[in-house]
Amino acid sequence: MTPTKETSKLHESKPRPERVIIFDTTLRDGEQAPGFTMHLNEKLKVAHQLAKLGVDVIEAGFAIASPGDFEAVAAISEEVKGPIICSLSRALPKDIEASGRALAKAPRRRIHTFIATSDIHVQRKLKMSREQVIAQAVSAVKLAKTFTADVEFSCEDAGRTDWDYMCAVIEAAIEAGATTINIPDTVGYCTPWQFGECIAYIRNKVPTIHRCVLSVHCHNDLGLAVANSLAGILAGARQVECTINGIGERAGNAALEEIVANLKTRQDFYKCDTGINTKEIYRTSRLVSQVTGTRVQPNKAVVGANAFAHEAGIHQDGILKERATYEIMTPESVGWTGESIILGKHSGRHAFRKRLEAMGYTGLSPEMIEQAFERFIALCDKKKVVYDEDLMAILEDEIVAVPQKFQLEYLSISSGTATVPTATVRMKIDGETRQDAGCGDGPVDAAYTAIERITGIQAEIADYSLEAVTSGGDAVGRVRITAKLGGHTVSGLGADTDIIVASAKALVNALNKLEAARTRASDSKTAKVGPANL
Ligand code: KIV
Ligand code: ZN
Repeated sequence: MTPTKETSKLHESKPRPERVIIFDTTLRDGEQAPGFTMHLNEKLKVAHQLAKLGVDVIEAGFAIASPGDFEAVAAISEEVKGPIICSLSRALPKDIEASGRALAKAPRRRIHTFIATSDIHVQRKLKMSREQVIAQAVSAVKLAKTFTADVEFSCEDAGRTDWDYMCAVIEAAIEAGATTINIPDTVGYCTPWQFGECIAYIRNKVPTIHRCVLSVHCHNDLGLAVANSLAGILAGARQVECTINGIGERAGNAALEEIVANLKTRQDFYKCDTGINTKEIYRTSRLVSQVTGTRVQPNKAVVGANAFAHEAGIHQDGILKERATYEIMTPESVGWTGESIILGKHSGRHAFRKRLEAMGYTGLSPEMIEQAFERFIALCDKKKVVYDEDLMAILEDEIVAVPQKFQLEYLSISSGTATVPTATVRMKIDGETRQDAGCGDGPVDAAYTAIERITGIQAEIADYSLEAVTSGGDAVGRVRITAKLGGHTVSGLGADTDIIVASAKALVNALNKLEAARTRASDSKTAKVGPANL
């Protein structure tokens, strides 16, 4: 339509969409879930990527919870520029002081403090009176204000809290200096209608509510985390707390990518936008999936492998004629480039580096690029066509590295219908070469036995999964495992065209992570400073 005077006027008077603050808690609520533990290097990598994605706030951890959390909050505060860095604290002086110390180097820092407000939590868990809860919330906010002007207060289990009592707690917290008030549906109990009403109620009943940003934080126990968060936004919340791929306690948190895609695709309805660079969504999802060792379900909205796949003939026909017939957002808009053919065996290092940059892998050290290039050339020898996805899989191994105490050097397998599967493995441990052989129920088991004999480490393999990264008989296989040892649970990842080699790499990756976790735990016992001593 050609704009006339009238339509241009209409356009001019159209209100600008309101900005919703994206508060990412992948590294705190997400990491808190069993099996999602991340190593410090991995957390830093994720935090840098979150900054690139354009989140407004990164909740980097729960500083008092463990020395690893303290260290991660401190390191992210020092290194990651752009977003506000936040640390969670119960409404207790030792927690708030730990957060204050861990955040000290962040140019923009926030302390997030919380106390439960629902009757069931107040009476059964805290064994306090409602008045005592208010007094503790006020003291916590006041103490947090001595470390930073930016203080967030949460009413834990707000979803099951009496609304009038919650309004009284909120009013007191704002009076004490809270600048963000967060309403968590901690156990994922609310319905979107009820949750939206609750936010509207708070906005109407708390006279000072305009002094702070109202935030929502929803869990997914009934599959409603995203719907409840959007209902909160519709009712006037202007911060939403979420995680990449929706990871988090139990059924998880609201998925960042889904909230952002909703606000963007249906801006006509929500009239809100975010500062997210949506083209970084897919890469961020991949990174989180890789460091947590947790696969994204194929039918997951926005980032699942099938999110933009059109299988039915009628759909394919429609898509070929006009993409908008069956696509409400484009894969490119979330940074999904698909299976595109990349370089060949004869490509030089320069072209290879350029391709990595085009895929968004910037800032890699020359050593990382060299190692990745060597693996790429080795892959070209085994595989006719190398796709971006293949390249990403091998890069994942190289880039997010934990200290490499254990390295796999050589693996040979003898297996078949008439032989006992046997593996010969050579490894480097702290630079020293060791070799051994093992038998097993199958070739993977044999390789794992040999690795166990060499390292002397008997980790429990709680989970094993194998997927083809791309299609075709020569596809790269990606193996993910969950390994447990001495109270630590880690994920391990390995990729190769040979699935036994990929399996062995996944175990070696997990052993390196277990070793890093063990070292961290023993360091923290002897540490002179840190949360344990606060
Ligand atoms: O779910 C929850 O209640 C939380 C709070 C600590 C914000 O994660
Ligand atoms: Zn939570």
